[in-house]
Amino acid sequence: MELRIGRVLTLFVSLALFFVASGCEKVDRTLQPEVKSVENIDLLPAKEAVPNKDGIKIGFSMDTLEEERWLRDRDLFKTAVENLGAEVEILAANGDDALQVLQAETLISQGVDLLVVVPHNAEAAATIVKKAHLAGIKVLSYDRLIKNADIDLYVSFDNERVGELQAESITKLVPKGKYVYIGGADTDNNAHLFKKGVFNVLQPFIDNGDITVVYDQWTKNWLPSNAYANMQEALKANGGKIDAVIAANDATAGMAIQVLMEAGIAGDVPVAGQDAELAAAQRIVEGTQTMTVYKPIPTLAEEAARLAVAMARGEYIDTERKVNNGKVEVSSVLLSPIAVNKENIDETVIADGFHLEEDVYAGNKR
Ligand code: GAL
Repeated sequence: MELRIGRVLTLFVSLALFFVASGCEKVDRTLQPEVKSVENIDLLPAKEAVPNKDGIKIGFSMDTLEEERWLRDRDLFKTAVENLGAEVEILAANGDDALQVLQAETLISQGVDLLVVVPHNAEAAATIVKKAHLAGIKVLSYDRLIKNADIDLYVSFDNERVGELQAESITKLVPKGKYVYIGGADTDNNAHLFKKGVFNVLQPFIDNGDITVVYDQWTKNWLPSNAYANMQEALKANGGKIDAVIAANDATAGMAIQVLMEAGIAGDVPVAGQDAELAAAQRIVEGTQTMTVYKPIPTLAEEAARLAVAMARGEYIDTERKVNNGKVEVSSVLLSPIAVNKENIDETVIADGFHLEEDVYAGNKR
């Protein structure tokens, strides 16, 4: 009898671990913008494998792989760490906080030398930092800041500047009128920084009565389906008459444009996005999206890998720039984002090889 219970228990534990490792829960993303081709995400070819002399192992706990950029972050970070002669173990939690904590515990119990985290929830991830530090493992916050925790380093882009670039582009075209703001996930500290940047630029226009923000909502879990519903609501609430849309990333911008398309006004209403996704680049040359904010992911992944491996090898990293996360002044590296529109798309995302010219212009005249 005991033996049978033992077997059942072992079976149950191995199943739980299997699910932890695979990060299985699926989020409904049926409403994805049509993407013409994303196969050619150019990975950094791994140089001659660099021997892992000192057996350094980095754990990379990711929120999700749903957006195109996170596939790039995953592959480029892996290649960069391996090129530094270290190993990396990557787990993605598909937007599930409890799963992300469990996955981080798995990486900690595997004895990684340093943990790199893209938090799904800025606050909930603080527990991961506590667990890692209890095991003597330092934590690098990647792209998104973990709040109210004693993190060791934060590497990202200047996310407030992202919002400013979006609003600067759109207010140049629409200095007066009704604006719709489609925010990101309010669990993501970046979404708050993007929004702060947007309103840094819009506020003077709002104060002098030229611009009215007629709709302003977060997009739960960054889900395109939620952005679609938000945009439908915004258009309906304003009798189908709005003058501009600022969306926190390209996936949400794609949904806003889908709604504008269905209302027959896509291309007439300027729309801002972020992430320079291929579909967004295609929409920009097509004329249905006005701009996106390009964040050169290879630079972020390589810089984070360099600092992660250096810290794992015991190097003390201190930076001039500090960001307050509600608990500590975090040593931070913030890279510069770039505004991209039809005029400069060739000399930015195409020149960098972020996307291939033939993919961006697929079917569209130059
Ligand atoms: C943000 C990130 C963006 C974006 C979004 C959705 O934190 O900075 O690039 O795509 O998450 O995953």
